Amino acid sequence: MAAAKTTEKAARPAEHVAIIMDGNGRWATNRGWPRLVGHRKGVERVREIVRAAPDMGVRWLTLYAFSTENWKRSTEEVLGLMAIFAHYIQREANELAREGVRLRFIGDRSRLAPKLQRLMAGIESKTAHLDRLNLTVAINYGGRDEIMRAAKRIALEAAEGRFNPEDLTEAAFSRALDTGDTPDPDLVIRTSGETRTSNFLAWQAAYSEYEFTETLFPDFTPAEMAAILARFGNRERRFGGAKA
Ligand code: IPE
Ligand code: IPE
Ligand code: MG
Repeated sequence: MAAAKTTEKAARPAEHVAIIMDGNGRWATNRGWPRLVGHRKGVERVREIVRAAPDMGVRWLTLYAFSTENWKRSTEEVLGLMAIFAHYIQREANELAREGVRLRFIGDRSRLAPKLQRLMAGIESKTAHLDRLNLTVAINYGGRDEIMRAAKRIALEAAEGRFNPEDLTEAAFSRALDTGDTPDPDLVIRTSGETRTSNFLAWQAAYSEYEFTETLFPDFTPAEMAAILARFGNRERRFGGAKA
């Protein structure tokens, strides 16, 4: 019997890269500056990385910007981050569209300010027809929260007789998540030296490769990302299989 393909030399480039953008606060604090200065510098890096990603073979880029746990921070920092997101969307809208970037958001929007929610919906529809790069930004996102929301929705449909629980497959559950039809990430990168996932893509990253770099996000350049992607190409992904 021909063996199913269970191992894969990752010779093909990482098409979906997810980044836990961490270390903005420390970057600023190290310089004696307010944490928000680090977040603003982080946004500049996002712009560079988004521009460089397609030429690195990346077709999906998912960025963790604000977690369901980040509300624990000071009001000043939370409001400052929300203002930065709104500003980014407004300032980048034309540039993203020009570069063929489709921008979407994952996370629970219901807790965000109505104005921010409108900006998010606006840029999603403005860029919906583009596909040179599929950029997903996670705001008020938590992997567990996303799974809970999907599970609740499915349970409700089942209770109302609109969904047969026997039809619940991994594929159907994946589609019910915020990420919908987006493929799972090949590679998750976390900056700033922390080696944890902090509730990012709990379901989707089950078989992703991970790379951790000491670099704080405001110092993370497209060149470092390219070096990490080159390393990815030498990894052997086994998906539970054994070496032939
Ligand atoms: C940015 O880095 C990630 C966000 C939550 C916006 P941090 O703000 O967590 O920076 P550090 O980890 O405190 O240095
Ligand atoms: C994870 O970073 C969330 C984002 C990058 C948006 P945190 O800085 O919030 O994570 P912890 O608290 O160190 O786990
Ligand atoms: Mg952090």
